Amino acid sequence: MEIYKRLLTYLKPYTMRLVWAVVFMALTSGLIALQTYLAKIVVDEGFVNMNKTILLLIPAAYVIVTLFKGVALYAKDYLMGHVGQKVVNNIRDQLYAHTVSLSFSYFTKMPTGIIISRIMNDVNLVQGGLTRAPAVLTQGLLTMMVLLGWVIYLNWRLTLASLVIMPLAGIALSKFSKRLRKASTQMQEHMGSLTTHLHETIGGIRIVKAFSMEVHESRRFAEKNKDLFNALMKAIKTTVVSHPVMEIITVIGSALVMEFGFYYVFRQTMTPGDFVAFMMALLFLYRPMKDLNSVNNIVQDGVAAARRIFEVLDSVPEIREKTDAISLSRDFQSIAFEQVSFQYDGHEEDLVLNDINLTIETGTTVAIVGKSGGGKTTLVNLLPRFYDASSGSIMIGGVDIRDARIDSLRSLMAIVTQQTILFNDTVRTNIAYGRLECSVDEVMRAAEAAYAHDFIQNLPQGYDTIIGEAGVKLSGGQRQRIAIARALLQDAPILILDEATSSLDTESEKEVQNALDRLMTGRTSFVIAHRLSTIIKADIIIVLKDGRIVEQGTHEELLKLKGEYKNLYDQQFRDESRPGGIGMV
Ligand SMILES: Nc1ncnc2c1ncn2[C@@H]1O[C@H](COP(=O)(O)OP(=O)(O)OP(=O)(O)O)[C@@H](O)[C@H]1O
Ligand SMILES: [Mg+2]
Repeated sequence: MEIYKRLLTYLKPYTMRLVWAVVFMALTSGLIALQTYLAKIVVDEGFVNMNKTILLLIPAAYVIVTLFKGVALYAKDYLMGHVGQKVVNNIRDQLYAHTVSLSFSYFTKMPTGIIISRIMNDVNLVQGGLTRAPAVLTQGLLTMMVLLGWVIYLNWRLTLASLVIMPLAGIALSKFSKRLRKASTQMQEHMGSLTTHLHETIGGIRIVKAFSMEVHESRRFAEKNKDLFNALMKAIKTTVVSHPVMEIITVIGSALVMEFGFYYVFRQTMTPGDFVAFMMALLFLYRPMKDLNSVNNIVQDGVAAARRIFEVLDSVPEIREKTDAISLSRDFQSIAFEQVSFQYDGHEEDLVLNDINLTIETGTTVAIVGKSGGGKTTLVNLLPRFYDASSGSIMIGGVDIRDARIDSLRSLMAIVTQQTILFNDTVRTNIAYGRLECSVDEVMRAAEAAYAHDFIQNLPQGYDTIIGEAGVKLSGGQRQRIAIARALLQDAPILILDEATSSLDTESEKEVQNALDRLMTGRTSFVIAHRLSTIIKADIIIVLKDGRIVEQGTHEELLKLKGEYKNLYDQQFRDESRPGGIGMV
């Protein structure tokens, strides 16, 4: 109920439209009753009293009434459709804006598919419950009120008799709709499982093929598809049986009512016209009764979807800005981690970072090395506040980053991640992402500096070529250089680089390396390094093991220690230092 109340606030701006819609609904209901009244006149005046004028005029009147009814229906459906779609639009915008404002941790907890389903499907369900169902309900109730009033006026005893008989049809109807609903829930589940299967195997088609799993996947697909077929058939069986059964029940009901009616007509307590109008009205009553039956389900689905939507809207970003947050300056002298510890939510027993103390002077390159799972990515994720330290603090130029404005903090950093994310847009927009206002010239200069200009020029439409999901595909090295150009264009004083682990061929490796070197010059760089060449060039290397800094120093110093770094070196990098060796990771 509370959820519904909150939903209603979305309708508030459209109150006037809704009022008009109700007016048109009432008009529709009135005109339906008028149609049955015309039938009464035809019989009583036309046939019984042999009034020729009436017989000539009534068909024309019938046309006019139907015309008006059509206009009223149109106006009401248009208004309701408009309000419904407006509400969907508003909720969807709000939901998207809120979702992207949420912190990183939300997205690690929530599968992307679920987030998309909230924004796409749930919003539609809400519209059903918020505008479609109430419209059907209002229209149905109005029509029932008008028609019931009319049949009571025509013959209240007969009305009473039919009220005993007609609910039988209602009971049967609700039985059918329950079964249909069960079948449709099953159908949706099977559809979801089929979609997930498609998503995984088409998205991962390379793996499917590489492991020759086509036949296996086709078989799995066929099984799921069969389940879907079975669920669909259940729904179809229910529907096809419900039509004739419902017809029989209504006809039996009407036949009984008719018998009573004939009795009144013979005893002359009811005119034949009243009788015909009565039967017609009863027929017209069937439709709203049927509609009302579906309203409940639509509302329930809508409320359930609304609950899920509000859950998203009510979740607050974990990373928040203080009200008196300050702007960070670009000319800071140092970055310091002071007794920083960190654990992920829900994993309180494992410290991923444990008492990290580290001071970096501006302009230095820090290489972070360590075994997989040692906490390297976690460490650099604290800098832009993707997560906040569980204890301790990170200072940039003496300012705790939690006291800084988030946009000013993040504008100090350019981030190049292991996987390059390119959007389905032009090369130019992809490079300018984050600084969309910059000129073509600037984009080109960044691309040149990233050794990307040449291959971009050879693309079909140069800088205007669409790349990404639906566009021209780029090689791994090309993608990385686009990402480097993007970071260069940000011209941020701090660079965070999660070096790609996948080895490129020697040629593009060299170009990417050159581009990276250029990107690092003059910046304070945090590099999660997998290449020996990067590590050797770093001003300081820190070795992370189980969340602690176990060693730090230059390559030579660390090798002499014969400790963790030496181990790593022996396992990972030694081959790389030999001429012609392959860099293993
Ligand atoms: N979102 C998360 N929720 C819970 N635990 C996480 C999360 N992300 C990482 N971890 C855990 O934190 C630890 C450190 O992970 P992290 O990604 O920082 O390692 P890494 O040093 O970057 O490893 P790699 O070299 O493989 O990239 C791992 O044990 C990992 O399982
Ligand atoms: Mg990592």
